[in-house]
Amino acid sequence: MSVDSVFRTRSLGVAAEGLPDQYADGKAAKVWQLYIGDTQSRTQEYKSWLVSLLKEHGVRRILDVACGTGVDSIMLVEEGFNMTSVDASDKMLKYALKARWERRKETAFDQWVIEEANWLTLNEDIQKPGPGFDAAICLGNSFAHLPDFKGDQSDQQLALQNIASMVRPGGILIIDHRNYDYILETGRAPQGKNIYYKSDLTQDIATSVLWVDSKPHMITLDYTIQVPQAHIENVPEVSNFRLSYYPHRLESFNGLLKAAFQGKMEHNVFGDFQAYSPGQARAPCYFVHVCKKTA
Ligand SMILES: C[S@@+](CC[C@H](N)C(=O)[O-])C[C@H]1O[C@@H](n2cnc3c(N)ncnc32)[C@H](O)[C@@H]1O
Repeated sequence: MSVDSVFRTRSLGVAAEGLPDQYADGKAAKVWQLYIGDTQSRTQEYKSWLVSLLKEHGVRRILDVACGTGVDSIMLVEEGFNMTSVDASDKMLKYALKARWERRKETAFDQWVIEEANWLTLNEDIQKPGPGFDAAICLGNSFAHLPDFKGDQSDQQLALQNIASMVRPGGILIIDHRNYDYILETGRAPQGKNIYYKSDLTQDIATSVLWVDSKPHMITLDYTIQVPQAHIENVPEVSNFRLSYYPHRLESFNGLLKAAFQGKMEHNVFGDFQAYSPGQARAPCYFVHVCKKTA
């Protein structure tokens, strides 16, 4: 493998090489709520789309495989779904556990299951209920966190296969990723509002792309978030953290999903939770895949 070039702002070093949990230093977790912005306003963007879709498919039991601090899971618990929420990062899970504890007197929150689990070992880390969950969700550009250190996407394939195996026949997987096609073609994120991360406190996101063997291999974002001092104790006024992503192209991600379900699925792609047509005038910030397991 040869490293061809790194372009735009800052060098990458060997960021995240061998690091399974990019959130392990707790820096991102501490300010994640600030980065998300107002939780209600975030989930309002897609709540009705998501809840209608889940109800349309008769979903009751949901597995959130990248719950992070719990923003989407909390919204779905509040909407009456039976949630199991997992994440590989204990630093992120800490905030979800705290939210459950604070609302433990509400039956729905008392019954909310939260576990530490990694997509690569999902079948060992959690118990699948009978034939599986009615739905699995992986939102907020989470899946792109899984790198491709082996250069053959086999880890990503394994992770997707494990996630798909948690869904019962007839159930659905909802998974998203940023519009990396646009980012790679233009060197910048699509214009328009970010449906997930929209805090006014985000000062800067410096972007670097690592190319290996003439292919984009990793995108690294260096975040600078302004922290109001009254808000969080023991956090500097300006918080910096770095996250790296595998830049999934839409066509190739479609292929990964098809393989994960061994072709036995119906697949629809949305742009920012709306109908998407390839080549449409407004490039979406995120692609959202809905896969229904057909067997
Ligand atoms: C971008 S955050 C999004 C969290 C949440 N869904 C949200 O939108 O705020 C991505 C999450 O994926 C988790 N994650 C990354 N790789 C993982 C893996 N291999 N297994 C399980 N969780 C993983 C991270 O720990 C992190 O909490």
